[in-house]
Amino acid sequence: MPETNRPTGTHHRASILVTGAAGNLGREVVDRLQAHGARVRCLVHHQTGSRSAVESVVGDLTDPMVVRAALVDIDAVFLIWPLLDAAPAHELVAELVAAAPRVVYVSSTAVDDEAVRQSDPIAQVHADMEALLRGAGLRPVVLRSDTLASNARGWATQLRAGDVVAGSDVARTAVVDERDVADAAVAVLLAPHRDQLDLSPYVLTGPEVLSRAEQVARLGAALWRRLSFQSLPADLARSRMLADGRPGRLVEALLAASTCRPDSNRITDHVERLTGRSAGTFARWAIDHVTEFN
Ligand SMILES: NC(=O)c1ccc[n+]([C@@H]2O[C@H](COP(=O)([O-])OP(=O)(O)OC[C@H]3O[C@@H](n4cnc5c(N)ncnc54)[C@H](OP(=O)(O)O)[C@@H]3O)[C@@H](O)[C@H]2O)c1
Repeated sequence: MPETNRPTGTHHRASILVTGAAGNLGREVVDRLQAHGARVRCLVHHQTGSRSAVESVVGDLTDPMVVRAALVDIDAVFLIWPLLDAAPAHELVAELVAAAPRVVYVSSTAVDDEAVRQSDPIAQVHADMEALLRGAGLRPVVLRSDTLASNARGWATQLRAGDVVAGSDVARTAVVDERDVADAAVAVLLAPHRDQLDLSPYVLTGPEVLSRAEQVARLGAALWRRLSFQSLPADLARSRMLADGRPGRLVEALLAASTCRPDSNRITDHVERLTGRSAGTFARWAIDHVTEFN
């Protein structure tokens, strides 16, 4: 409901739409918003049967009718764009412009503001989405997230079968706990005044730069197991990801990110700036999630 249409003298609880609400990051955002007493609506891709207590709209982010229904009476949107192309986002952006909520977009630290073309398709889609949202006049708050610690969940099947994680290697980067990104997002979504927020991107990192092998070793320490990482050549990594059922286009984008994305040594205090406490380590994330790997 627009501010001007709201009855005066009543307490307004913010209504927040969370996209990707069943995903690793979205789930954490939903839980925190509920704990803060916000009214939450989830946009989920598929009906899961869980979270019956939370209002949900089921459908595709590229479907303008789904987005329109999801945006009714919404004050702020936690927006992810999980596709590999920004072109299908034009209709979503038109719906956002019409509904005029506050928009918090989760982008990537891989976006390079100086580059004409980004290093890989995943960085490119985030750069394109940022430009699209800004160009539409939505004045999004952009949270550029580093590699989420929760990506390690993708290793669970291998680690139930043995002590080696095999896959394509990636650049070293300051892996960030998705719970910290969720806390930062909630701080922005519930901030009482937009003008307290930066319109230049927040860069959300963890506290240390890690290679994939170092992540696997830290997970091993949490599990009391000696784990190792085996870097696979692109052809083998491709065939394994395809055999796991990942779509071909995603596989190629991940391989491109693996080969083209440079190391990122950047560590920021932006999690602390938004949440009031410092970002957690990957080692802490691993300890908190050991049961998922046994
Ligand atoms: N993971 C990282 O390291 C990282 C780093 C920087 C930025 N990000 C951004 O953060 C986002 C969230 O990351 P995450 O790890 O939480 O991802 P995730 O666990 O894969 O969650 C993404 C969610 O989006 C849903 N979804 C996919 N396509 C959709 C569509 N067309 N319409 C509606 N919903 C759709 C998925 O539902 P289904 O599974 O049912 O399709 C899933 O629940 C990513 O999409 C990415 O843009 C991620």
